Amino acid sequence: MTSEADNHVDARCAAVYDVFEGPERDDLDAYAAMVEEFGAASVVDVGCGTGTFATMLACRGRNVVAVDPSALALDVARAKPHADEVTWVHGVAADLPPLQADMAFMTADVAQAILGDEAWMETLTAIRRSLRAGGLLVFESRDPQRRAWLEWTKANTYSSAEVDDEGTAESWVEFGSASGAFVDFTGVLVFERDGYRVEQQNRLQFRDRGQLTRSLESVGFVVEGIRDAPDRPGREFVFIARVPL
Ligand SMILES: C[S@@+](CC[C@H](N)C(=O)[O-])C[C@H]1O[C@@H](n2cnc3c(N)ncnc32)[C@H](O)[C@@H]1O
Repeated sequence: MTSEADNHVDARCAAVYDVFEGPERDDLDAYAAMVEEFGAASVVDVGCGTGTFATMLACRGRNVVAVDPSALALDVARAKPHADEVTWVHGVAADLPPLQADMAFMTADVAQAILGDEAWMETLTAIRRSLRAGGLLVFESRDPQRRAWLEWTKANTYSSAEVDDEGTAESWVEFGSASGAFVDFTGVLVFERDGYRVEQQNRLQFRDRGQLTRSLESVGFVVEGIRDAPDRPGREFVFIARVPL
């Protein structure tokens, strides 16, 4: 089954996502540490993608429900070790079953990939519903003031990697345009062996600290803290929001 989210995500792209993100995914360590810090036994991973975080937590004995609208990404996730200990949901946060989870996460670009006020508020409302009283939502979002997109050139973002069964693949991103809070850019992936080239058009929304705080408060979260992202200090907000007891 494919979905709208897969219209621009080729199966070969989904399969190599983890290679370019880095198998070690250091950016997820801080989030795994928060699961320990807050003593969460049950976790919802919204926009789980290829399932690295969800399977990492399942391996550590956490009860994990993971949701993503990309069927291709979920196919990659389901093939990972510990995938059978995760409940996978194909869809968005509103498609989650009734839960009383301790924590919910949106890691990497998920929050910024949710475009427009309506979809953003629906997502926050659904996540709040999935959490128990006292539960926590943690997500990251780039600070628009840092204008990260100005660095999204081939020269700054190029990398190449050896991919199983594929040989060398090259990847980079190129900034397209910025209009208000929305930034368009192209992700390019080229397989050297057959010259197969995929250009994926992407859009992210940059919300500022005040907008994020107000949106959380309007669906009943209390913002408990805003931390730095360890991999991008000073460039990104890591919001921690609690459902009041
Ligand atoms: C950059 S990937 C990050 C995946 C994963 N969280 C990680 O850290 O590797 C962004 C993910 O957000 C998902 N996504 C896009 N729109 C979404 C939405 N409205 N609700 C939930 N997930 C969404 C995409 O399908 C994609 O898998």
